[in-house]
Amino acid sequence: MTEWAVRPSGGLHGRVCVPGDKSISHRALMLGSLADGTSQVSGFLPSGDCLATLACLRALGVQIEMHDATTLTVHGRGMRGLRAPSAPLDCVRSGTTMRLLAGILAGQAFGCTLTGDSQLLRRPMRRITEPLRQMGAEIEDTDGHAPLVIRGRALRGTDHSLDVASAQVKSALLLAGLYADGPTTVRQCGPARDHTERLLAAMGAAIDVRGLDVTVAPASSLHPLSLRVPGDVSSAAFLLVAGLLVAGSQVTVEGVGINPTRTGLLDVLRSMGASITVENEQQQGGESVADLTVWASELAGVEIGGDRVVRMIDEFPVLAVAATQAQGKTVVRDAGELRVKETDRIAAIVIALRRMGAQIEPQPDGFVVSGPTPLHAATVDSLGDHRLAMALAVAGLVADAEVVVRDADCIADSFPGFEELLRSLSSRGMA
Ligand code: S3P
Repeated sequence: MTEWAVRPSGGLHGRVCVPGDKSISHRALMLGSLADGTSQVSGFLPSGDCLATLACLRALGVQIEMHDATTLTVHGRGMRGLRAPSAPLDCVRSGTTMRLLAGILAGQAFGCTLTGDSQLLRRPMRRITEPLRQMGAEIEDTDGHAPLVIRGRALRGTDHSLDVASAQVKSALLLAGLYADGPTTVRQCGPARDHTERLLAAMGAAIDVRGLDVTVAPASSLHPLSLRVPGDVSSAAFLLVAGLLVAGSQVTVEGVGINPTRTGLLDVLRSMGASITVENEQQQGGESVADLTVWASELAGVEIGGDRVVRMIDEFPVLAVAATQAQGKTVVRDAGELRVKETDRIAAIVIALRRMGAQIEPQPDGFVVSGPTPLHAATVDSLGDHRLAMALAVAGLVADAEVVVRDADCIADSFPGFEELLRSLSSRGMA
């Protein structure tokens, strides 16, 4: 499926589940590897990014049994049980793999190199290498980029004030803090996703959260996990926006994680006039999950900035699509981080949606969309960015004729089976 031809769709109907949460799947593998004993994980996301983490951990000596695509056992090796890999660790296209592993590897008794594909080698790594060096880590980068050559060392507990709201940076420092000689504090500038903190607390680590400040104590052992990973709200987002935009739709996504650090898009869509209900809320593995239902809705433009941005940082490509169908202006600001995701998501979504006839203006830290505008047939490029590819496929459902999304294979980086799931909701077929 290198090119995906998406046709305009009649109403979408049905109840579906989305694959497991990507952020939690990475963390379950990494933390399970450091635990004393075996962790059982179900609902694991077998996507390109998470499988990259799995392969790296195996190369570090961790035995991971996959019982089926989503159920696995991680044989933890304890905090000091990882082994030097025989070759550089390939994080493929996964920023989470590279940044979080760097935190763990900085404090080991061996050295190793973290590398990845050309997309990952373009992403900024100074945001982790500099604070890790303040902890005493020895890391060589190439002008702020991977490959990262890490020589494991004793680390110092350090007080960090972040100038970017990033869960990957926070998590890298907290994981390194497990290996430090005293407490490590991370002072965040925004409420980035807190899955690392929740899992560490569940595993018995001494972790203290006060507002945006998180402190972790060094740990000599972690309890193993028994975890059912919630559905990924960032994957559900594409189906929910599709259901809101395609006339006559009613779509339910079951078992979705609704951790408040992840649900900025739901708040924003509601403030745009979306009909969304949250039902059957329950606790699962230290996270809240629920069934989310949307009905096709008339949307109005909205202004988004401040803390809400980090709570929906992965959802801006699909929000931009929703904004093209909303009445009035949608203004996104404080979202400069979008420029350093898998692609420059501000530039990439502007180019693709303009090609379909949208009125969208880039800004240094966001974009402005004026709507509603009809979207037209076009061939658009995902540039190898999974979230861009899925957002453009959603745009194709409401366009007036076929939209071809180039380089659509990357969807499997976070949402294997997306095309089939969308097809199952659609009353008219898609190519
Ligand atoms: C992630 C954090 C976010 C997000 C990414 C996953 C994580 O990145 O965009 O998809 O699992 O910690 P940043 O920390 O760079 O914002």
